[in-house]
Amino acid sequence: MAEDVKFKVSIDGIPVEVSPGTTILNAARTIGGDVVPPAMCYYSKLEGSGGKCRTCLVKVSKGSEKDPRPMPKLVASCRTTVMDGMEVQNITSPEVLEARKGVVEMLLINHPLDCPICDQAGECHLQDLSYEHGLADTRYEFERRTFEKIDIGDKIQLHMTRCILCYRCVMVADQLTPQRVHGVLGRGDAAEISTYITKAVANEFSGNMIDVCPVGALTDRTFRFKNRVWFTKPVEAHRDCPTCSGKVTLWYKGEEVLRVTARKDTYGEAEEFICNTCRFDKKATADWVIEGPRSVKRTSVISANHYEQLNPPPVVKTNLALQEANKEQFDRVERLLP
Ligand code: SF4
Ligand code: FES
Repeated sequence: MAEDVKFKVSIDGIPVEVSPGTTILNAARTIGGDVVPPAMCYYSKLEGSGGKCRTCLVKVSKGSEKDPRPMPKLVASCRTTVMDGMEVQNITSPEVLEARKGVVEMLLINHPLDCPICDQAGECHLQDLSYEHGLADTRYEFERRTFEKIDIGDKIQLHMTRCILCYRCVMVADQLTPQRVHGVLGRGDAAEISTYITKAVANEFSGNMIDVCPVGALTDRTFRFKNRVWFTKPVEAHRDCPTCSGKVTLWYKGEEVLRVTARKDTYGEAEEFICNTCRFDKKATADWVIEGPRSVKRTSVISANHYEQLNPPPVVKTNLALQEANKEQFDRVERLLP
C-alpha cells in the first residue's frame, strides 16, 4: 500500500486521519485528551505489549466504509487496527464505561487499596482508574492473594501483591537486556512474577522495570518512603553518559535529589530508557546539567503543586462541561495566587 494512504477514522465523533496499520489507541492518542482510552499494559516502546489488561476496551460502531457492520463485541483498542471509515466510541458509549468499570473491579480483586502508603501513589494509573471507575465496596468474598515483599538486589523491591500481571517488566528484561531471567510463572490465579527476577537486577537497564510498572509492584528502594511524589519538584537534566542518552528527570525536595527517573510523556511512558548508573548512582546536582522545570502533563495527583499546570488543557469537544468546570477551578486558584 502506498505510504501516503490515510484512513479516515472517527473516535467519539472526532475525525482523524492515520496511516493503515495504526491501532485505535494510537489513533486516539493523535487526537489526545479524554477520548484516549486508558492503557495499563500497552507501552509504545515495548514491542508486543498490550492485550492483557482490557482497560482499553472500545466499541466499534461501524467497522469500515466497505463493511459498515459494527463489531459484535467490545475490542481492545491497543490491539485492533483501524479501517477506512471506522467509527469508534470510547467515552461516549455507556457500554464501554460499564465494561471498564468491570475491568477495574477485576483488577482490584487482588490489588490492595494501600495508596496512602504506596510509593507509586500519585503516578499510578490504577489509582486514577479506580477513582474514575471503581466501586466504593468490593463484591469479592474470597481471600485475596498476598505475597511477601522481595528485595531484588539493593535497588529494586518487588511487592507481588500489587502486581496486575501486565508483563511490561518482562518485556523490558526481554528487549532491553541481553538475557531475560524472570517471567510470569503459573497461570490463572497462580500466576506470579518469578523470584528469578533477583538475577535481572545485575543488568545495567533493569531499573527501567520500575518506570514501566503501572502500579507499585516494582519500586525504587533508594526512594521508598522518602517522600510523596507530589511534594517533590521535577527538573529536567542531562549528563554525558556512555551507556544511555543521559536525559532524565530529577525529583528534588529542597536541594536534595530524592530520585532519578526517565522522562515520562502524557501517557506515563518513558521517552527514553535510562541506565542504572544515571538512575541510582547520580544523586548529586553536580552530576547533572540542569535544563529547567519538567512540566508534568498527566492529570493526576502528581501534577499538584506544579503551577505551570494552571493553563487549561486543550478543549476536547466531547467534554465541554468538564472543561468549563476545570476552567472555573483554574480561575479560582489563579485568584488566590499572589
Ligand atoms: S511487576 Fe509491575 S510491570 Fe511487572 S507484570 Fe507486575 S504490574 Fe506489570
Ligand atoms: S492496554 Fe489494551 S489490553 Fe491492556
